[in-house]
Amino acid sequence: MQNNIIEFDTIDSTNTYGLKNFENLQDRTIISARIQTKGRGRFNRNWVSESPENIYLSIILKPQKKDYIVNLTQYMSVCCAKVIEIYNAKPQIKYPNDVLVDNKKICGILCESFLKSNVIQGVVLGAGINLNMSQSVLETIDRPAASLNLITGKNINRQEFLNLLLEEFFSNYDSVLNQGFASFSKDYITRSNFLGRHIFVQKRDRDIKEKYFAKNMDKNGNLVVICDDGTQKTIHSGDIII
Ligand code: BTN
Repeated sequence: MQNNIIEFDTIDSTNTYGLKNFENLQDRTIISARIQTKGRGRFNRNWVSESPENIYLSIILKPQKKDYIVNLTQYMSVCCAKVIEIYNAKPQIKYPNDVLVDNKKICGILCESFLKSNVIQGVVLGAGINLNMSQSVLETIDRPAASLNLITGKNINRQEFLNLLLEEFFSNYDSVLNQGFASFSKDYITRSNFLGRHIFVQKRDRDIKEKYFAKNMDKNGNLVVICDDGTQKTIHSGDIII
């Protein structure tokens, strides 16, 4: 199936565009922009989006079978990590779906649902990937961040990376819709940087961090942790601090 691709030089946010126009856009439409003026991240954070050779991308997904739609963000993190590996960098995944190189974030994913009368119609799956940034712009980001050009010492061909990513994503997309986390769990777990160690989990920016031991992933892609008192629990959301 050929994807529709909508490309912008400048837009507020490819995710916002996707949500606003969701009903008029076909399943698997790709929205891509050179610059976002209001790039959005998780927890209402800003996503710095002023480097035209980076990737700012959203995919409109309207699958019939919605049971495993929640696993698409983790799946996208695996796809981004696999493509970054083609460029000889060593990405790791931080739960649930950040992609890091040398503990610095290189890729963020924001998946937003479109609801009609409280029923989910599909999602807008957005990814921001730092491919070509100057050190000075990278330093304006308020958390440790990385860019692939600075890691490899070479400019990265944005179109080539985008093509590889879409190819990777759609090659196993149907399996993810049918089997969920199980269809890519091995790829996710081998790249994870949090399992088998002590982590802190913070629900929102100002919340207290709670300390756990990250034990394993359950079959749904949730993180199972051991608390200080020895009890076990499942973490569904929040930011992990290692
Ligand atoms: C995160 O906080 O880690 C998620 C960042 C997601 C950024 C991407 S860039 C393309 C798409 N449009 C947005 O406004 N956000 C996502």
